Amino acid sequence: PPILNWKSRGILIHIFIIIYYFNWRTFMLGNVIVGQSGGPTSVINSSLAGVFKTAKDRGANKVYGMLHGIKGLLDKQYVDLSEKIKTDIDIDLLKRTPSSYLGSCRYKLPEISDDRETYEKIFEILRELNISYFFYIGGNDSMDTIKKLSDYALLIGSDIKFMGVPKTIDNDLAVTDHTPGFGSAAKFIAATMKEIIRDGLVYDYPTVTIVEIMGRNAGWLTAASALARGEDCEGVDLIYLPEKVFDIDHFLERVKEIASKGRSMVIAVSEGIKVMDGRYVFELSEHVEFVDAFGHKQLAGSAKFLANKVGSELGIKTRAIELSTLQRCAAHMTSRTDITEAFNVGGAAVKAAFEGETGKVVVLKRVSDDPYMCITETHDVHQIANIEKKVPLEWITEDDFVTEDLIHYIRPLIQAELSPIMVDGLPRHLNVNMD
Ligand code: F6P
Repeated sequence: PPILNWKSRGILIHIFIIIYYFNWRTFMLGNVIVGQSGGPTSVINSSLAGVFKTAKDRGANKVYGMLHGIKGLLDKQYVDLSEKIKTDIDIDLLKRTPSSYLGSCRYKLPEISDDRETYEKIFEILRELNISYFFYIGGNDSMDTIKKLSDYALLIGSDIKFMGVPKTIDNDLAVTDHTPGFGSAAKFIAATMKEIIRDGLVYDYPTVTIVEIMGRNAGWLTAASALARGEDCEGVDLIYLPEKVFDIDHFLERVKEIASKGRSMVIAVSEGIKVMDGRYVFELSEHVEFVDAFGHKQLAGSAKFLANKVGSELGIKTRAIELSTLQRCAAHMTSRTDITEAFNVGGAAVKAAFEGETGKVVVLKRVSDDPYMCITETHDVHQIANIEKKVPLEWITEDDFVTEDLIHYIRPLIQAELSPIMVDGLPRHLNVNMD
């Protein structure tokens, strides 16, 4: 008599088919590689977690992480992320770890027509690793890398899929409603401004506190300082964005006017404010000039320059605060909205690439303001790479502040919190060099 009846044989055959299908699918899927590039944010690792988890959940075989972006990959620097991120707790820690877990770079790929060798080398490395999907988490400069690699893939008939995952505290990426990383930096700026204002108004004589905020040539983050104003806070007095020419005489007049009323004041200035002749304000004093591969000068020192000016010309006690990297790595002050969206754009990039899309960037589309809701879409990288989205001039007021419309646009992005995982009194992070 047969050992198995017909029903059992049928079940066994089905099991064999399922096992065969999954192995085949894994084989067909190839491997995934992901990198981080440009200035870090406090939620960029949430996007990395989104890419890793979604790729794994969808059956990816290996997920590699480039160390120091495309520059590191050219030197064959990468890790197998499955050996680093093993549990759900690791995913939770990664999401809450500020700055770029994999390290970053400011590296501009050459034009394809100028130097095919670099591209041949990259594609050779990708072939060695059996890569089918390539994800790059970055801002408008980093999207230049996705643009060039996807163009080259098209040229040589490679079917590796290249997808951009957006991030930047500057919020200056075109097409997308906003960029992951901005909401948390904006929350940090607004909260820190409230604290600086409490400290800045304590004396019974006028003082000036000038706070310098990042954002390069776009004033979105500096504008977020306007959110400090509320029923428990006077708010900042003056806001200067790089979208408008900075007039030093006018600035001194405004300071004098407020001080003449016996009031102390807190002023927000963007690191990127420029005077009429096109020079950055910080360039008016002695400074060390560092320029990166994309031709961006290191911007720092505007607040210090202006504080010296107020002190020497108006004789008012003045303090300059440069928030510098604090504003992009304050993981204890992230916006849950932001960290969730950062994860989702990573996941959406994987979904799109696995479904065959390439040469695209995931963008956020605001579909409702009340309640706030954003969905993800994909968009051609050629319309995003290297383009800076600035604050519209109609959102900047004549009295050196910003409009309610701008505040209304930013406010939903800073909502809700995600507590750090505390160990021994401090937030716990995931560190690629120490796991
Ligand atoms: O890329 C965003 C950014 O944080 C800018 O706001 C800032 O000007 C720049 O990076 C600073 O970059 P780096 O870390 O290379 O000095």
